[in-house]
Amino acid sequence: MSKKIFSGVQPTGNLHLGNYLGAIKNFVELNNKKENECIFCVVDLHAITVKQDPKELKKNIRETTATFIASGIDPKKSIIFNQSMVPAHSECAWILSCVSRIGWLNRMTQFKEKAGKDKEKASIGLYSYPVLMAADILLYDATHVPVGDDQKQHLELCRDIAQKFNNDFDSPNFLKTPEPLIQKEFSRIMSLKDGLKKMSKSDPSDLSRINLTDNKEQIINKIKKAKTDPMPMPSDQKNLSERPEAENLLGIYSSLVNQNLEKSINDFSGKNFSEFKDKLSDILVNEIEPVSKEIERLLNDQKYLDDILLEGSIKADKIASKKIKNIKQLIGF
Ligand code: AMP
Ligand code: TRP
Repeated sequence: MSKKIFSGVQPTGNLHLGNYLGAIKNFVELNNKKENECIFCVVDLHAITVKQDPKELKKNIRETTATFIASGIDPKKSIIFNQSMVPAHSECAWILSCVSRIGWLNRMTQFKEKAGKDKEKASIGLYSYPVLMAADILLYDATHVPVGDDQKQHLELCRDIAQKFNNDFDSPNFLKTPEPLIQKEFSRIMSLKDGLKKMSKSDPSDLSRINLTDNKEQIINKIKKAKTDPMPMPSDQKNLSERPEAENLLGIYSSLVNQNLEKSINDFSGKNFSEFKDKLSDILVNEIEPVSKEIERLLNDQKYLDDILLEGSIKADKIASKKIKNIKQLIGF
C-alpha cells in the first residue's frame, strides 16, 4: 500500500548517530519504495524555539539538507524543503493552538526536559512546539510519520488535535490521523558516555556522540573512549538493562548490521570489550565515513542545496496552501 510520509529534523547542528539510526535511515528506506510519497522537512521554525545565532542557523539548514541527501534521500523522488519557506505551517499552527488544550500540552515530557527547572523562562514557542509539529503533519494528510522513540508522545498529541478539530467543525476524517513509524528495536540511541542519557545534539561533550560529519579518526577515537564496564561482554540478555552502556553499544552494532540483539550477544559473548569495539568501529566507519565525505562535498555547493530547498518549498507550498484554504473555510474565515 502506498504511504504518504512526512517527517522533520531540526537544523540545530551536530546531527548524530541517534538521528541517523532512529530516523534518517528509515527515511531512506521509505524514499526507496516506489509507491511512497515522501516529504522531508528541515524544521527551522522548531529550531528557533530556543535561541539560535542567525549565521549558524543558516549554515545548519544547509547542513541538514546535505545530510538528508548524503544519507541517500533522492531529492528528485522526495520533497525536501525548509519549513519557514511555506507560510501555511505558521498559520495552521496558530489555528490548531486554538483547538489544543493546555492540559494536553502540560503532559509533554520533552517540554519538561528542555525547559529544565526554570519553566517561567522558557519561550512560549518551546511550549507550543508540538502544535506546530501537528500542523506540519496534518497539512500534508500524512499517513505515516517516521520518528525516533522520543517523538511518540508528540504524535499521539497530533492525533488528538486532528480528532478534536474534526469534531469541533463537524468534518469527519478531514484532518487525517497519522500513524507513527518507530523502529521496533534500537529506537533510542544513548550517549557514549552515559548509557542512561539519550545521545543528543546539545550534550556539551562531543565524545558522547558520533556526529555524521565525523571522520574516520574521530569515529575510532570516540568508540575507543566510549564508556563500558569492567565485566566481559554479556552472554545473554538477562540483567543487560543493568549494563546500559554494553546494551547501547550492542544495540548500535545490531542496528548497523541489521540483526537482532540476541545474535550480536552470541557473536561476542564473553569476549573483551576491546575486540568488540574494534569491530564496531570498522562497521561505523564503513557506514558513516561515506556520508560525512558526501556532506562535506555538498556543503561546498551552496547553490545546489539552496535550489533543492527552493524547488522543494514550491512543491510543498502547493499542497499546504490548498489544505490551509480548506481549513480556513471550515472555521468560517
Ligand atoms: P531532532 O534532532 O530532535 O530534530 O530529531 C530528529 C529525529 O531524530 C527525530 O525523529 C528524533 O526522534 C530522532 N532522534 C533524535 N535523537 C535520537 C536518539 N538519541 N535515538 C534515536 N532517535 C533519535
Ligand atoms: N519534533 C521533531 C524532533 O524534534 C521534529 C519535527 C518537527 C517533526 N515537525 C515534525 C517530526 C513533523 C515528524 C513530523 O525530532
